[in-house]
Amino acid sequence: GVTDVGGKLGEKRNNPSVSSPPISKATSSSSAANQPPIKLGIPDSLYANLEQIQILACGTSWHASLVGKYLLEQLAGIPTMVQYASEFRYAPSPLMKNTLTIGVTQSGETADTLAALEMERQRRIDLGAEYEVKLLGITNRAESSLAHLVPHIIETHAGIEIGVAATKTFVTQLVAFYCLALDLAYRRKTLPLSKIAEIITGLRQLPAQIEIVLESQERYIEELAHDFSETQDFIFIGRGINFPIALEGALKLKEISYIHAEGYPAGEMKHGPIALLDAKVPVVAIAMPGMVYEKVLSNAQEAKARDARLIGVTPMNDEEAAHVFDNLLPVPVVDELLSPILTVIPLQLLAYHIAARRGLDVDQPRNLAKSVTVE
Ligand code: M6R
Repeated sequence: GVTDVGGKLGEKRNNPSVSSPPISKATSSSSAANQPPIKLGIPDSLYANLEQIQILACGTSWHASLVGKYLLEQLAGIPTMVQYASEFRYAPSPLMKNTLTIGVTQSGETADTLAALEMERQRRIDLGAEYEVKLLGITNRAESSLAHLVPHIIETHAGIEIGVAATKTFVTQLVAFYCLALDLAYRRKTLPLSKIAEIITGLRQLPAQIEIVLESQERYIEELAHDFSETQDFIFIGRGINFPIALEGALKLKEISYIHAEGYPAGEMKHGPIALLDAKVPVVAIAMPGMVYEKVLSNAQEAKARDARLIGVTPMNDEEAAHVFDNLLPVPVVDELLSPILTVIPLQLLAYHIAARRGLDVDQPRNLAKSVTVE
């Protein structure tokens, strides 16, 4: 299901029952100016002298981490690398000082992510105090192996996710990254308080906006799925903060419908993948107002010129988008920065309904396990 975006982001296991709301009432008034607007309970020592962040993750958690990179760099101004844990284990980046390493795993049990974190911890210990170990985890399971490996976690509180395809845990991982990036932006003073307050207000509105997407789109996407029961290839495109959502949309479709799907940054299409396009290859473009909106529309039009059927995840009531796309999956208009939490929902629904239409088991797809506990 995609209904629970998680309630609380709290501190970790030393106080697992923490129940106070993580986001304090955001305001730019002077009386509140001394209060951090986000309460993550992360000790100052983890943030001190921070020069870079590296994130280790696999699969959908890796996609959430790419959104996290965007937020950490653009809001908090911290250079951030996102590594596949399975690659990092055998080709780790050169060690740098003052680095925070974040392991992202909803299950907290993914073998590669745990091993990469352990390797990072050990190589820093071996080099002594200069290469201080700073580890943080983001997980949906407060009692998982991850929580025993790292001293601090952000728990995503999505509720147990039974289906193999990560959906609600993905959304709550994104929320965790918004909170982390805002906490860092506040501490590093990279954003005015008023901007932080505005983003927090936007975050608070997202659950109701997700409801709107679910209510307005579910039936339509179910119908639309009929058209793709025989489709063999799909392309997903997006740019900026929605590029990782294109990757995630493609992964969801592959995973549960067994349709070959690729996600690309829209501007890369002309560097090769556009050769794949014809009338048999639908293109799903994520086009939300903001810095890259016109660019994505123009990339989508290039696909249309190759006869591709164009499906757009677009802002509601957008006439320009209505002219470009053959099918619209509209979401409420929000700041581009917050849009991934909405744009992923129709893509999760699309994957779900195409798989259901093909008579597949959407909860337990072939060849996959919920937690990958082997290398
Ligand atoms: O539990 P994790 O977040 O570490 O899992 C990582 C991947 O195995 C996982 O996201 C996988 O890609 C999902 N089945 C995707 O839906």
